[in-house]
Amino acid sequence: MEIRIRDAGVETLKTDLLVLPVAEKKLQEAPLRALDLRLKGQLKQCIQKSKFAGAEGASLLYSTAGTLPASHILLVGLGQEKDIDHDGWRKAAARARREASAIGAQDIALFFAPNKDTEDRAGAAVEGALLASYQFTRYRSNSKPSAEIRMLTLFRPGLRRSAALDKTINSAQQAAAGVFLARDLVNEPPSVATARFLGEQAERVCRGRGLSVEVWGKKKIESMKLAGLLAVNRGSQEEPRFILMRYKPAGKPRKKIALVGKGITFDSGGLSLKPSKSMETMKLDMAGGAAIIATMSRLPQLRPDIEVTGYVPTTDNLPGANAQKPGDVIRYLNGKTIEVLNTDAEGRLILADALALAARQKPDYMINLATLTGACMVALGSGVGGLFSNNQDLAEHLLRCSRDTGEKLWQLPLVKEYREMIKSSVADMKNIGGAHGGAITAALILQEFVADVPWAHLDIAGPAFAESDQTICPKGGTGFGVRTLLKFLSTL
Ligand code: BES
Ligand code: ZN
Ligand code: ZN
Repeated sequence: MEIRIRDAGVETLKTDLLVLPVAEKKLQEAPLRALDLRLKGQLKQCIQKSKFAGAEGASLLYSTAGTLPASHILLVGLGQEKDIDHDGWRKAAARARREASAIGAQDIALFFAPNKDTEDRAGAAVEGALLASYQFTRYRSNSKPSAEIRMLTLFRPGLRRSAALDKTINSAQQAAAGVFLARDLVNEPPSVATARFLGEQAERVCRGRGLSVEVWGKKKIESMKLAGLLAVNRGSQEEPRFILMRYKPAGKPRKKIALVGKGITFDSGGLSLKPSKSMETMKLDMAGGAAIIATMSRLPQLRPDIEVTGYVPTTDNLPGANAQKPGDVIRYLNGKTIEVLNTDAEGRLILADALALAARQKPDYMINLATLTGACMVALGSGVGGLFSNNQDLAEHLLRCSRDTGEKLWQLPLVKEYREMIKSSVADMKNIGGAHGGAITAALILQEFVADVPWAHLDIAGPAFAESDQTICPKGGTGFGVRTLLKFLSTL
């Protein structure tokens, strides 16, 4: 999809679909009035007959039947003017993109009312239009790709290209490409997307593209004493992998960041087997790892002046004959031990290795993404990720980024009194807590492995996977976290 900026008015632009975003009860504004005048009052009549009033999520399609250079007009509701944020623009553009496909439009022109943050709004709109075009059709025999949108024009009288506008549009395009990669990796069936496959994909997107990459096999993992990854892998026929990716800026890096992602390619629960219904979507359990690989893959294009290392421990969690057993104890490379009482609490077991390894490099910040607990979904629902941090500045920076990207995060506390709940009778800790507060006890276990590095843990069990179609994402992997991480890395 080509993106164009045009200095033009609503009456003159030739396009298949002219999109006019409208705030709630703001149907009297100049561009709409101008259109209506050209259409001899027909548009107004049509609006009056419909219930369209600019509410968020509402839209109204009008065919101009040759009376204007634009063949269709789409009004999209933005909701109450005071509540319109970047995500409102993102969703409005996503809706327009969907409508355009539905009517077979090949180019869309989005009217951009004058506003002080034209750049950010434009970035959000481009991102929304791109994100809404994602499809995963590799496994359909009869898939007709829906009509390709060739062109997205952003316009208004006086709108001009600028370096700042080009930059936000480029960032949006990069972010969307990252999100698509993460969605693809998650949507791939679990017997295809094995640990080996993830390693190959990391190599494919890093090697020769401005990133260094190492993919450790079982022997190297053994020699590095990544005991948690080996323990979880014991029930599987597939070998584990440990993926390391590094981006270095041209000059001296201002900061060093470690990103860690949970890469369980399928979570059956292990011997603590999940019921079949809960297993249906468990290919999603590498969504954290996929988000890290995807984020890393865009850094050479975005060129932040910081060093970023991505760590993805990956294996499936299966109950094979040699599987780890409840009661087993794992000894980690930082000397700490964990008693495994539930083999389904495996994410923390493999993240512990990666966090301990990453912490040794003393990064300025360490951030991990993991589909870690069903408890986090109980607390926040499926649309919001849980954010835990031992550093409030880091937490607040991530929350600001999340508000910008529309990837919702909510901070949950690391309640130190709850450490009682992870005490073990034989080891330093056990891998499960009590009946309640499961997202917190899981986070407390991770915290044991980060030493004093400023760290944030994003529990993305809910938002990593859409159970039904959404405005900016069809059912399946969402790529959650990629855009917030990219925003974070570009605002450090
Ligand atoms: N991968 C799951 C968490 C999960 C559940 C992600 C639902 C996405 C949707 C994780 O490994 C797990 O099984 N956690 C257990 C922990 C429990 C055994 C302490 C859970 O949340 O039930
Ligand atoms: Zn599990
Ligand atoms: Zn899991």
